[in-house]
Amino acid sequence: MEKAIEVKGLRKSFKDTEVLKGVDFEVKRGEIFALLGSNGAGKTTIVRILTTLLKQDRGTATVNGFDVASKPENVRHAISLTGQFAAVDEILTGRENLIMIAKLRHLDHPRQVADDLLKRFGLTDAADRKPSTYSGGMRRRLDIALSLVGKPQIIFLDEPTTGLDPEARIEDWKIVKELSGGGTTVFLTTQYLEEAEQLADQISILHEGRIIAGGTLAELKKLFPSAKVEYVEKQPTLEEIFLAIIGKKSSGMMSSS
Ligand SMILES: Nc1ncnc2c1ncn2[C@@H]1O[C@H](COP(=O)(O)OP(=O)(O)O)[C@@H](O)[C@H]1O
Ligand SMILES: [Mg+2]
Repeated sequence: MEKAIEVKGLRKSFKDTEVLKGVDFEVKRGEIFALLGSNGAGKTTIVRILTTLLKQDRGTATVNGFDVASKPENVRHAISLTGQFAAVDEILTGRENLIMIAKLRHLDHPRQVADDLLKRFGLTDAADRKPSTYSGGMRRRLDIALSLVGKPQIIFLDEPTTGLDPEARIEDWKIVKELSGGGTTVFLTTQYLEEAEQLADQISILHEGRIIAGGTLAELKKLFPSAKVEYVEKQPTLEEIFLAIIGKKSSGMMSSS
């Protein structure tokens, strides 16, 4: 099976406001897929539908080959979700946090699972301390380690770097690349163009309820021919492509006469 996620004609309204107006996209196995959109575009709504936390009004979505509406249990088995806000328990130590989740997931050797993840995320030395003593980057690593308990095939990261300082953000990017290198499909949302540009194999831009553009960074760049500014041909940045697609003027682009 090639596709990790397939979304067709997805619609969702909250009261009178239609947030998703027919969203279509696909995510291939093993790739890093970035759903890019401004604040309020509907990214979290899509994540909640795909992770079976919210029902769509119309359209279909399959995750790992299972329909989210009719086979939510199968979907939940294949995925993990790391939300916009960290889910780390403050009373437990790092190791205890991991063991707790492993037990909740009915894994056979919770302590071994915890130790392996601590090692993988460079948290062995900090394992017996409470997360309140961790740096921002360490908390983030613990958070992602928690979401990897049970080896999910598809991991959802909803704005994984929002609110992080630049250093922690770069560390996060490293982890995401590593996850993908290990064969996990990564679905992430972001409002940061640079993040999508750095990480994603495929990018879909969500704007006013629809996917208005999608493809690899190279494909998106082709949609938007480089502007000739006098003698110098300039490669557009993803930001310029984004602004051009949504119809806003970007400073410095298309300024040749
Ligand atoms: N449970 C809800 N009830 C009413 N409105 C909601 C609810 N969840 C989201 N919305 C609205 O839907 C829109 C999209 O929200 P969201 O999916 O959180 O966007 P994003 O994650 O891209 O910032 C926003 O206008 C938000 O206020
Ligand atoms: Mg959101």
